[in-house]
Amino acid sequence: MDLGLRGKRALVTGATKGIGRAIVDLLAAEGCDIALCARSEDEVESAVREVKTKGVNVSGGAVNVRDADAYKAWLERSVSELGGCDIFIPNVSAGGGMDSEKNWWKCFEVDVLHTVRGCEFLVPHLEKSGHGSIVIISSTNALETFYAPMAYNAMKAALITYSKQLSQFIGRKNIRVNTVSPGPIYFEGGAWEMIKSTNQKMYDATLRAMPNGRFGGPDEIAKVVAFLASPSASVITGSNVVADNGYTKRVQY
Ligand SMILES: NC(=O)c1ccc[n+]([C@@H]2O[C@H](COP(=O)([O-])OP(=O)(O)OC[C@H]3O[C@@H](n4cnc5c(N)ncnc54)[C@H](OP(=O)(O)O)[C@@H]3O)[C@@H](O)[C@H]2O)c1
Repeated sequence: MDLGLRGKRALVTGATKGIGRAIVDLLAAEGCDIALCARSEDEVESAVREVKTKGVNVSGGAVNVRDADAYKAWLERSVSELGGCDIFIPNVSAGGGMDSEKNWWKCFEVDVLHTVRGCEFLVPHLEKSGHGSIVIISSTNALETFYAPMAYNAMKAALITYSKQLSQFIGRKNIRVNTVSPGPIYFEGGAWEMIKSTNQKMYDATLRAMPNGRFGGPDEIAKVVAFLASPSASVITGSNVVADNGYTKRVQY
């Protein structure tokens, strides 16, 4: 199936490793030009070099999305370098962690504000595309209780509500907005590898909750995101797609 992604221009935040990196690899393989960012300059440079081997235009920026001015400058530069924007995938998260007030602010600024700022800046460009698509990365932590009342879980829930309301608000501009909620995803250098080495009990309990006895991988989430981002998903907007390997236990009607 041809998803219709060839020639589309995609901005993806947090794309040097894990799910974000799998997304840019797949979108580039499908013929999208890419603008990506992350904080580490070295990792941005090597990601740009590697993704370019797929024969598309790739630009990168070493930017902390929490820094509003630097982030806006990256958005502006990316749109100018790609000559527009058809797809936006805000993927960066501050992650889980201690539930201090400081952490709540960090999670709000990174998870929520970077998404909102990116959408607000890019909507006029996505409108010009005629097939604009925003895919926001949430988490199953927003949908079911997960260990403790963490800012991460609440911010991921906020993203789902924001996405739904934005989809109604800008639908007439031919921009679709969806969220993907991955369950636990294992990759080298990722959070679950760290949990495996520091909290074997939590890791084992999580694995036991997977009906097929394995974690999902970033490439499996990337396929879901690429479909939603593509014109092939033209009828899907305002949805939250749960991609969790059966980890959550509620019935979804
Ligand atoms: N892994 C899972 O099990 C899982 C499950 C559900 C949902 N998710 C969601 O999926 C998304 C990706 O998570 P992941 O686990 O694949 O990757 P990750 O380990 O969270 O890293 C993702 C990327 O974000 C960059 N990054 C982190 N903070 C940044 C910041 N402030 N500004 C700019 N870039 C930043 C990292 O590079 P630098 O460190 O160089 O900045 C890296 O390229 C997140 O939204 C996460 O909440 C993950």
